[in-house]
Amino acid sequence: MTVIEQRPPSEQSPVADHLRVVRIKVRRYDPEVDPDANWQTFEVPVEKSDRLIDALHQIKWYQDGSLSFRRSCGHGVCGSDAMRVNGVNRLACKVLVKDLGDEILVEPIKGLPVLKDLIVDMEPFFAAFRAVQPFLVNSGREPTRERLQTAEQRERFDDTTKCIMCAACTTSCPIFWNDEAYFGPQAIVAAHRFIFDSRDEGADERLEILNDKEGVWRCRTTFNCTDACPRGIEITKAIQEVKRALIFRRR
Ligand code: F3S
Ligand code: FES
Repeated sequence: MTVIEQRPPSEQSPVADHLRVVRIKVRRYDPEVDPDANWQTFEVPVEKSDRLIDALHQIKWYQDGSLSFRRSCGHGVCGSDAMRVNGVNRLACKVLVKDLGDEILVEPIKGLPVLKDLIVDMEPFFAAFRAVQPFLVNSGREPTRERLQTAEQRERFDDTTKCIMCAACTTSCPIFWNDEAYFGPQAIVAAHRFIFDSRDEGADERLEILNDKEGVWRCRTTFNCTDACPRGIEITKAIQEVKRALIFRRR
């Protein structure tokens, strides 16, 4: 078998005209090798149209196969490649390298335990999601046709249906960084999606769950979550709507 040795671009022949070399500084962590995290810099030749996920693939495939990160769809749908890029949460598949400068800092999202490199343990995040009952609750008979609702009723919760559960919002929230028991913006978004659905009967229970000291009242309207959302969901607004629903609910 022929083995082709891959070396960093600075040691290779001149980079082709259409390529530009960027320095990607990645926060590496492998508990089996070193108990501490370290920064490692890679020089990566990129094209104008390359996204950060393409550059990370370049590193993994041609420079260091041990670099670990999650990705699946590559097109902003699966939500698996949220990471902190130049200090801000982004999806690596939705950000162009040309918009990130010549030196790019890449870290795992904050507030969840890091397992290896850019991979975090998502379980605490999913636990909060599950806790708000993110499914339709309806005690009526199983319908033989779809449950009807008007366009206006559907519009009421349309924004929060867009969530892809990437965790960019929750892990950008300073409250969550310091209090992992806080449900976090994503769980509230997931609850909002059903609380305002005219076909659902579980709103009271969900509101009670979020009335907890670790629920909506922990939110300090920081807006980091709204800025971080790759789907453009107005998360802070959704949280305010849930707070208002709690204040004005009939007991
Ligand atoms: Fe956090 Fe978003 Fe509230 S960033 S404090 S959940 S507005
Ligand atoms: Fe699926 Fe980026 S890889 S959202």
